[in-house]
Amino acid sequence: MRSSRNHLFALSLVCLGTLLVVYVTDKVVKNRNTRDVNTDCDCSKNNVPPNPEMTNPAACDRDPRDDSHVNPLSKFYSVWYDQPTEKTLTKRDHANILIWTDLWDDQLKKKLPTGTGTMCPTMPGCIFSKYHDKIHEADAVLFEVSNLQKDYNPSVMPTVRFPHQHWIWFHTECPNFPSINFETYRSVFNWTITYRSDSDSSGAWGSLYRTYQRLKVEGVDPKKDYTVGKKKLAVWFISKCNTQANRVAYATELVKHMHVDVFGRCGKSVCAKWNVTCMPGIIRQYKFYLAFENMKCKEYLTEKFWRNALANDVIPVVLGANRSDYERLAPPHSYIHVDDFKSPKELADHLKMLGQDKEQYNAYFKWKTQPPKNMPLEEGVWCNLCREIFERCPTKRKLYTDLRLWFEGEHLSMCDPLENVKHQKLQFVDDHFQVATYTD
Ligand SMILES: *[C@@H]1O[C@H](CO)[C@@H](O)[C@H](O)[C@H]1NC(C)=O
Ligand SMILES: *[C@@H]1O[C@H](CO)[C@@H](O)[C@H](O)[C@H]1NC(C)=O
Ligand SMILES: *[C@@H]1O[C@H](CO)[C@@H](O)[C@H](O)[C@H]1NC(C)=O
Repeated sequence: MRSSRNHLFALSLVCLGTLLVVYVTDKVVKNRNTRDVNTDCDCSKNNVPPNPEMTNPAACDRDPRDDSHVNPLSKFYSVWYDQPTEKTLTKRDHANILIWTDLWDDQLKKKLPTGTGTMCPTMPGCIFSKYHDKIHEADAVLFEVSNLQKDYNPSVMPTVRFPHQHWIWFHTECPNFPSINFETYRSVFNWTITYRSDSDSSGAWGSLYRTYQRLKVEGVDPKKDYTVGKKKLAVWFISKCNTQANRVAYATELVKHMHVDVFGRCGKSVCAKWNVTCMPGIIRQYKFYLAFENMKCKEYLTEKFWRNALANDVIPVVLGANRSDYERLAPPHSYIHVDDFKSPKELADHLKMLGQDKEQYNAYFKWKTQPPKNMPLEEGVWCNLCREIFERCPTKRKLYTDLRLWFEGEHLSMCDPLENVKHQKLQFVDDHFQVATYTD
């Protein structure tokens, strides 16, 4: 038995040609065999096998990750299987995705096409729209977290909800960022897109797959000397410099032992942190890029690692997720992890040494010529989502009953705590960090 509380929604459905129910409840209890509402269900057919024409028939096998012995976080969502229907038995050649909220990148939202293929060119059957009246056709409805109201507000959410429809929570930042008031959004979302690999669809900032796809286009010269043109040692782009972020204390100490050029809001302002026009030209002059994440969270590798460092052929020095996460997600021997050093001074000494050693330095780019055998398919957020929609088990249902605990982990285990120090803003001046303003 499952239950979903504090949740108000309406279902309007067509079953056997009849407009059935508009259903409002604060507690829905359903059972796998006996259902108290006939939703998207052709109830005369029992035990029909899952869609035999599905691309991946195994999709309807029970996923071990839904077992709480295998995945403790699975207790924060519920999973059930509806009876197959005419509709779910039909082979699908297109999917409709409705982007309900604005997107974080509203340029993208403005350009959102109603036609096919623009968001994910490799899957033209996947159709994106931003028009709310498309709700009746939508296989998935996407809600981007920064544009959701903080508290659940039914008046800005869809007023109809179909059983086959996935309401998706889309959030690519780590739990420390401003988010929604989770308690009010209990039992609202069916799927998640986050940077974490256990999300329903991947919203990772980068991946091995995409990295090697890029290299296929760019080409790789196995004899290239990656020290050429790099006269400077290390560079850091940072916009939020406060003493509590895990990375700042480390960096404050590091810059005492080696020269680092700091750009962004608390450093040199000639090129701002998100400016992809000026960043590559600057970054490529350096041997190392400090890819320090603002939080140490499980699997939280961002554009700092993938786009700023790796894609610019500069070795990332990483602080953030544990080494084991990098080993799993990043190309082998492509980065230097701060945890491998006893102190910032030891790291500084190592970087200065490596900067002088052409052979050792170039060894950090060998991965480019050695694509791993089994790379999980990861084609960017829109294609990932299209693929999931096409390949999902059409009768599987899922609902996050406690999204906060799923996302933050029990006892906030997904992230290491922030530094327990007074919150101060810093400025990088003449080779060191100093306090800029007091905020408390
Ligand atoms: C990005 O940098 C370029 C070159 O420095 C500058 O011309 C441009 O105005 C910057 N763009 C933004 C959005 O700040
Ligand atoms: C890193 O690993 C340690 C030891 O296994 C663990 O206690 C910590 O929670 C992990 N941190 C993150 C951010 O995953
Ligand atoms: C999403 O959750 C709602 C609310 O419980 C449910 O009616 C619907 O069947 C779910 N959809 C999927 C695809 O899991």
